[in-house]
Amino acid sequence: MMLGGAISLLFIISAFAQRPCVQKKFPGARNNVVCVCNSTYCDDIPSIGTFQSNEAVMFKSSLSGQRLARSVITFGAKSSKAGNLNFKLDASKQYQQMLGFGGAFTDATGINLNTLSSNVSKDIIRQYFSKENGLGYTIARVPMASCDFSTHEYSYDDIENDFDLLNFNLTNEDMTLKIPYILQAQKFISIDEKLKLFASPWSAPAWMKTNGHMKGGGELKGEKNGKYYQTWSNYFLKFFEFYAKKSITFWGMTIQNEPSSGLDPLYKWQTMALTAEMERDFLSQILGPALRASNLTQNLKIMIYEDQRVGIKEYVDKVMKDPVAAKYVDGVAYHWYEDYLAKASVLTEVHNSFPSLFQLNTEACTGYLPFLGGVSLGDWSRGDQYIHSIIEDTQNFGSGWVDWNLCLNLQGGPNWVGNFVDAPIILSNTTNEYYKNPMFYALAHISTFVRPGSFRIQLLDSSGEQPTFPVEVVAFTNSQSQRIVVLNNREDSDHEISIEDAQRPGQMLTVKMEQHSMITLIWNKSA
Ligand SMILES: *[C@@H]1O[C@H](CO)[C@@H](O)[C@H](O)[C@H]1NC(C)=O
Ligand SMILES: *[C@@H]1O[C@H](CO)[C@@H](O)[C@H](O)[C@H]1NC(C)=O
Ligand SMILES: *[C@@H]1O[C@H](CO)[C@@H](O)[C@H](O)[C@H]1NC(C)=O
Ligand SMILES: *[C@@H]1O[C@H](CO)[C@@H](O)[C@H](O)[C@H]1NC(C)=O
Ligand SMILES: *[C@@H]1O[C@H](CO)[C@@H](O)[C@H](O)[C@H]1NC(C)=O
Repeated sequence: MMLGGAISLLFIISAFAQRPCVQKKFPGARNNVVCVCNSTYCDDIPSIGTFQSNEAVMFKSSLSGQRLARSVITFGAKSSKAGNLNFKLDASKQYQQMLGFGGAFTDATGINLNTLSSNVSKDIIRQYFSKENGLGYTIARVPMASCDFSTHEYSYDDIENDFDLLNFNLTNEDMTLKIPYILQAQKFISIDEKLKLFASPWSAPAWMKTNGHMKGGGELKGEKNGKYYQTWSNYFLKFFEFYAKKSITFWGMTIQNEPSSGLDPLYKWQTMALTAEMERDFLSQILGPALRASNLTQNLKIMIYEDQRVGIKEYVDKVMKDPVAAKYVDGVAYHWYEDYLAKASVLTEVHNSFPSLFQLNTEACTGYLPFLGGVSLGDWSRGDQYIHSIIEDTQNFGSGWVDWNLCLNLQGGPNWVGNFVDAPIILSNTTNEYYKNPMFYALAHISTFVRPGSFRIQLLDSSGEQPTFPVEVVAFTNSQSQRIVVLNNREDSDHEISIEDAQRPGQMLTVKMEQHSMITLIWNKSA
C-alpha cells in the first residue's frame, strides 16, 4: 500500500469546458495519479457534446496522466494510409443487449460514506449514478445481511430455531448504511432508465447451517429440501417484503454468493455451500415456485451460479438440463477472481448452450491477492485490469459488469476479517476528501457511454478475428444508432489504429493510440 506522501499536486486543464481532474501523484514505479475531490470541487465526466456528421468524439485516458480528455476527430477517405492495426465494425451484426454497469451497497460503503459530510457523500453517489456527469450506473448489488465487508456477522434472524421467522427484521446496517444511499442513488437515475437492484446472500443464519456459524464452510442443516430449506426460501421472500416496506423494490437476485467457497471448512468469512445439484433442486422445488407465486417477486430476474468463471459451464449445465429448474432461470452471474483459470470464451460456450440466458459479472475488485492486497492509489494497472475484463466479457456475451464496494477507506476496509481490497473511489475518513482511481475512469470509458439497451455489434481485425492483442476493442450501437467503440492499449508501445464502419463505405477513422491508454469513440450512423 502506498499511503500518504503525496509528492506533487498539479492541475490538468482539459480542452473541454468542464471541471478538470485535480491530480495528486503518489510514489510508485509508474505515474500513479488519482483525481482529488472535496466538498467544493470534483472533476466531471465530460458529456459527449456536439459534433458533425463527419466527425467522431474521442475520450482518452492514459498512464501518462490524461483522464477522459475529450477531442473531436474527422473521418478520412478509406484510401488514406491505414494504421498498423485495422478494425472494421458492422452494426448489422448484433449480439447481446446490454443491461448496464454498477457496484455494490456493502456495509463498508455506507460506513465510509457516513464519515463524510452529507454533501460529499451525496456527490459520490452522483459520481456513480448520474449519467449527466457521472458513470451512469444502472445496476446495484445489495448483500442480504452481512458479508466480509461488514463489521461483524449478523443475519436477519439470529434467534435459534425460529422456523417461522417471527423475529425476522432488517438491521441497523440496512437502515443507516444501505437504504439511505440506495434511495439517493435512485434519485440520480434519469427518468428514461431504472435502477436494477439485485440481492445476494452470503450465508443463512448460523443456526440453520451445519457448522453453526455464518463464516466457514457448511450447508443448510437437515435433509435436502427439508424444513431448513423451506425456511431459507421464506427468508428470501421476507427480505424482499421488508425492503418493499422501505420503498425499495428489486429487479433481481442471485441464489448464493460464491457457493463453492462454502465447501472450505476453514473459509474465513460468511459463506454457504450449494452444489449445482442442490441449487437446481432448491430452485425447482422450493425457491422458484415461492418467488413466482408472490406478486412482489414474480418478475425477479433469478441468476444462478455466481462463482468464478472456471466452473461455470458444468454448473450451469447441471441446473439448466432440468427443465423444471430451467424455467425459473433468467441469467447467470459470475465473478472475476480466478479468471486466469478459464478463458473468457467459456462465457460464449455458455451462451451457445443457453442463448436465452443473460450473463453478468456481479463482483470484481483489485488488490484482493495476499501480498498484493489492499489499496494502491493511482495504480494504472488496476484500471487496465478493469477495462481488460469488461472488454473480454462483453466480447463473449457478458451483458454488463458490476463492481464491488463503491468506496473504501485508505486501508481498503472496513472488513471484519481483514480482507482489505481496492476500489474505484478511496476516501479519507478524516478530511472529507476522496480520490478517484484509474479504475473509476476505466469504468467511465464504457459505463457512461454504453447505455442499457445498447447492443454489442461485430468488430473484427484485418484477419477477421475478434481483436485481443495488442489492442483490445469492443463495439456497441445504441438506440440512436450511434456507434460506441472502447479500446485499450496494454502495451509499452503506441499504435496507429484505423477503424471502418460497414455503413460508412469509403470512410475511415485513424487514431494514434498511446501506450497504456484507453479510448472511447462515438459517432453517428452515417455521414
Ligand atoms: C477543494 O479542492 C479545490 C481544488 O483543489 C481547492 O481549490 C479547494 O481549496 C478545496 N476545498 C477544500 C474545502 O479543501
Ligand atoms: C458542502 O457543504 C459545505 C459546508 O456547508 C459548503 O461549503 C460546500 O459548498 C458544499 N459543497 C457542495 C458541493 O455543495
Ligand atoms: C426492526 O428493525 C428496525 C431497524 O433496526 C427497528 O427500528 C425496529 O424496531 C425493529 N422491529 C422489531 C419488531 O424489532
Ligand atoms: C396479485 O396481483 C393480482 C393481479 O394484479 C391481484 O388480483 C391479487 O390480488 C394480488 N395479490 C396480492 C396478494 O396482492
Ligand atoms: C478510517 O480509516 C482508517 C484507515 O485509513 C481506519 O483504520 C478507521 O477505522 C476508519 N474510521 C472509520 C470511522 O471508519
